[in-house]
Amino acid sequence: MLVAAFLRNGLGLLVPLAIACTIYLYLYPLFGGCAFPLPSRDAHEAFEATKRLHWPFNETESDPDHVPTQLAPFRLLALGDPQLEGDTSIPTVLLGTFPHVISIYKHLTFQTPHWSFRERIRWTVHDIVDVIFEDIPYYLDSWRKRLDLFGNDFYLAHIYRTLHWWSRPTHVSVLGDLLGSQWIEDDEFEERGQRFWQRAFRGGERVPDDVATWPAHEYDLTGMLDGSEAEEIWTKRIINVAGNHDIGYAGDLTPERLERFERVFGKVNYELRFGIPINDTDVLATIHHDQRNPESNRLEPEIRIVVLNDMNLDTPAKDTDLQDATYKFINTVIGTSAAVEYSGIFTLVLTHIPLYKPEGICVDAPFFDFHGPEDGGGVKEQYLLSADASKGFLEGFYGMNKDPNAAAGGRGRKGLILNGHDHEGCDTYHFINQTNGTDPSERFWEVARWRDAQARGLPNLTSSGVPGRREITVRSMMGDFSGNAGLLSMWFNQETWEWEYEFVNCRLGTQHFWWFVHFLDLGVVVAFVVYILVSILGFVGVDVDARFFQGVAWGGRKIAPWWYQKRDDAASQNGHARIKG
Ligand SMILES: *[C@@H]1O[C@H](CO)[C@@H](O)[C@H](O)[C@H]1NC(C)=O
Repeated sequence: MLVAAFLRNGLGLLVPLAIACTIYLYLYPLFGGCAFPLPSRDAHEAFEATKRLHWPFNETESDPDHVPTQLAPFRLLALGDPQLEGDTSIPTVLLGTFPHVISIYKHLTFQTPHWSFRERIRWTVHDIVDVIFEDIPYYLDSWRKRLDLFGNDFYLAHIYRTLHWWSRPTHVSVLGDLLGSQWIEDDEFEERGQRFWQRAFRGGERVPDDVATWPAHEYDLTGMLDGSEAEEIWTKRIINVAGNHDIGYAGDLTPERLERFERVFGKVNYELRFGIPINDTDVLATIHHDQRNPESNRLEPEIRIVVLNDMNLDTPAKDTDLQDATYKFINTVIGTSAAVEYSGIFTLVLTHIPLYKPEGICVDAPFFDFHGPEDGGGVKEQYLLSADASKGFLEGFYGMNKDPNAAAGGRGRKGLILNGHDHEGCDTYHFINQTNGTDPSERFWEVARWRDAQARGLPNLTSSGVPGRREITVRSMMGDFSGNAGLLSMWFNQETWEWEYEFVNCRLGTQHFWWFVHFLDLGVVVAFVVYILVSILGFVGVDVDARFFQGVAWGGRKIAPWWYQKRDDAASQNGHARIKG
């Protein structure tokens, strides 16, 4: 039983490897130590707490659904730039399948005009060369690309599903560039929309339009961060941000592109407000109330999520009505913000294009490209927002000021900006030095890497002359960027009456590992089935080995008859019996 023995030994090696790789792949957040940070900011403790969520034997009888309370009440799974590709990246879809064969046929059947027969032959030979050097490679590449796209959907799905199951987010956001191209036709757009919801983010739901509200002075909270069943729905909803590949930059953005995005993925501009229950009556009494407690600057704790389409902030825009709508939205957000003197509200901005920063801070440097005048002259591409638009974020949304004599010392409102676009990711701190120079007009916004800013102690200077806000550009979840995901935890500190947060990344590894594991598993399954068949055949008395080697000899004879001929001659000369084919 040589064949069976070979398969048995092979499986003996491959099965343990396949099991180990599969366990690693399907439990990657566990091996990567991924967990939403805890208020203690202790990574080890956070990991242990998440592990306990999955340990089936620690449920107390009184409270079987007990979720450890030390978990942060707001846990956002933030995903950057999945960029679902499709038709537009398959050569045969763009160019046709074997177009030069068709062309040759036309030349030979006199369907093409040529001034001489020699010319006809010349073009035919030309096309034969193109078949070999273009059509065949493109054809093979198209199939590779199709397989690639198919696998990529499942690779992204693997990240979403596994991390969602393991880390238990309360909210999920995809920070723009859900799709890979803004140039696609409507049917391809629908197709990719289907793939987004049915495959990559299966189980996810679009945020309903009536929940995604326009900012107002009088508003109802979107929800409470109390872990109740009613809030469970938010673990499924995906807060989608519009990116340049979804709707186009300012120079390409049309109502049609916006409409199809909003219909499939949700609105592009809205706010969500989440509160947190406070049950302690002593604490409740300290909250601002116009009659009972007018002196207090404490507002009821709330996370205000501002979802913003920042595609058309910069000019020129193709459609100025759409640009006005974005400006109006921003002004309404600012107009309905609490005065800067109050504390307890945290503004989390989710958008796509990062804020302005000079070259050398992140991978992307400032870059603008514009359409020619014949195409409307609008913004064709940009890596970062302009300095002016960025200032609008910092001084508008956050109300910070270069002048220390401004309201509340120009310290502004608490918050954080999350975005995507720069696939490499970046973590920065924007600040303004209020004591720089004597004249406020000489002061300007500066940016530092978050790590450098921390080393310089800048975040601690917010109340002493250097207000600032952090901006996290989340690294892409695409395989080439190692399948990254951001985990943002937020919790409320009742002592300082401010929200606090912590952000960590979790990486799966490149798509190649994902492919390797699945091919390995498939190979093991096939080998195992063959092994079973061989064993059964052996059991019923078929000489599998003899047949196998006969088969090899027969196959060899077909492929290399001359070699077998020589061997056969030698064998008959030596008087050996030859293997019958
Ligand atoms: C702010 O500016 C003052 C005056 O130029 C300077 O002494 C101080 O070091 C600056 N602070 C920071 C954090 O750059």
